[in-house]
Amino acid sequence: MRSCLIAGNWKMNGSLQSAIELIEGIRQGDRGQAQLAVCPPAVYLMKIGGMLSDSDIALGAQNVCDQEAGAYTGEVSAGMLRECGCRYVIVGHSERRSLYGESDQLVAARFAMAIAAGLTPILCVGETLQEREQEITEKVVARQLDAVLESSAIGDFAKAVIAYEPVWAIGTGKVATPEQAQAVHAFIRGKLAEADDGIAQQLQILYGGSMNPSNAAELLAQTDIDGGLIGGASLKAQDFLAIAQSI
Ligand code: PGA
Repeated sequence: MRSCLIAGNWKMNGSLQSAIELIEGIRQGDRGQAQLAVCPPAVYLMKIGGMLSDSDIALGAQNVCDQEAGAYTGEVSAGMLRECGCRYVIVGHSERRSLYGESDQLVAARFAMAIAAGLTPILCVGETLQEREQEITEKVVARQLDAVLESSAIGDFAKAVIAYEPVWAIGTGKVATPEQAQAVHAFIRGKLAEADDGIAQQLQILYGGSMNPSNAAELLAQTDIDGGLIGGASLKAQDFLAIAQSI
């Protein structure tokens, strides 16, 4: 039986003060049975990590460098994220892929670096609206997964989480239907099962893209949906907790 993870991707929002208030709100509220994680902006990780040191809410980062250390201006290493108390790190978010040109190969290298440092990567995959309309969703998701499978062992997926995030659903208010999401989740699990069924069956696959308190229950009830990667709705403690409670 897979447990359910609700992870908040705060993106580049808020201020130090609002981040502190948000984490206080989440800590104080009722989260039901869900495992929770929050992914604040990198500069707030140390502070938020400190506030979570006595809590079972996990800390995650929004990206990690593909190199261990050195002259990589602007990047943050996996070791540094560990020092801040991170357990998770998002890799290959569609905003990184589309706005900052991260290729499948670079995402795969970031995934490998996270694994090597003992962080749990949350690997994001998903198709654009155009790709869905062209009916190549599975092909796109398979390509994104294959890049990681080429440079990491299938065994590494035992220490990873996948997030299926249709690009057309992110921040648009246009959520995938439970059937649409379930179909791609099942495809992802099936694809990994070809390499190792045991690992595929225990892998947490999250849905991301306009998940909110009113649509979460139906999505989370799907067989292959094991949680959510929440953007907009993770910025309000009440909404984030309501999603967690809807499991
Ligand atoms: P959203 O973002 O919930 O605001 O659509 C999800 C994500 O980008 O991870």
